[in-house]
Amino acid sequence: METCVMMWYQIREYRDSDYSAVREVYSTGFREHVGAVCVLTLKQHWVQAVLSVLFLLFLILSGSFLASLLCLGGVLLAGRFAVICLFEQGVQLGLREDLKDIWASYMHPGQVSCFWVAESEGSIVGTVGLLPCVEEPGAWELKRISVRKEFRGQGLAKALCWAALRFAASRNVDRVVLFTSLVQSDAHQLYCRLGFHKEEEFVWPSLPARLINFLVFKYTYKVGCGDDS
Ligand SMILES: CC(C)(COP(=O)(O)OP(=O)(O)OC[C@H]1O[C@@H](n2cnc3c(N)ncnc32)[C@H](O)[C@@H]1OP(=O)(O)O)[C@@H](O)C(=O)NCCC(=O)NCCS
Repeated sequence: METCVMMWYQIREYRDSDYSAVREVYSTGFREHVGAVCVLTLKQHWVQAVLSVLFLLFLILSGSFLASLLCLGGVLLAGRFAVICLFEQGVQLGLREDLKDIWASYMHPGQVSCFWVAESEGSIVGTVGLLPCVEEPGAWELKRISVRKEFRGQGLAKALCWAALRFAASRNVDRVVLFTSLVQSDAHQLYCRLGFHKEEEFVWPSLPARLINFLVFKYTYKVGCGDDS
């Protein structure tokens, strides 16, 4: 007897009516790494040294342990605010780049590129895009992989990425790359599961990133050699 498994979601190509939801899924997914970046910052020895010196300075100046702790708390809050501002710049960059005009960036006829969404009960719950890689001519890049929190751990990201990798195979693309950072730990598991290999790691080329040793990883996938399920 044939069994029919009904999926609770549908993976389909992007439509203009998805515009705001796609940008929102991307922004929310991006912003959620603020906490992990704060932790990474606090792990830096120079940050710990600066915080200790500040605490001692507050203690000498105020003579009060409690007041010094409060001042240190203020410094930490200011640091968190700075991280949030930097993240916001990152979010805005994405929204101004390929996500500004998603149709033109990904869906233009004749282009080997596409954007997919996962839809569940009329809502957009996940996204992924594929387009030629600017950093590596001849390769294609998976971008904007994000799944709403409530829908994670159910294979949605895998299904979205397989749609993109099948599309790549059908267009004779043989190399797909993607970039992710140290703090996106769930994403690393996903890429390994899909058959991507870590090829390169480097510190993101900006002063704040260098200060906290913010590592970015380049993963690569040889189309036709994976599971392609
Ligand atoms: C990364 C992300 C897209 C994964 O979405 P998801 O729908 O939960 O992923 P899936 O359910 O398809 O899981 C795929 C694989 O990833 C792994 N994985 C995903 N989340 C994991 C977690 N929290 N812990 C451990 N492994 C995890 C599993 O190995 C899983 O494979 P398996 O089910 O065969 O074991 C999601 O966490 C997300 O949107 N994060 C925020 C945005 C982001 O960081 N995007 C990456 C940009 S580079």
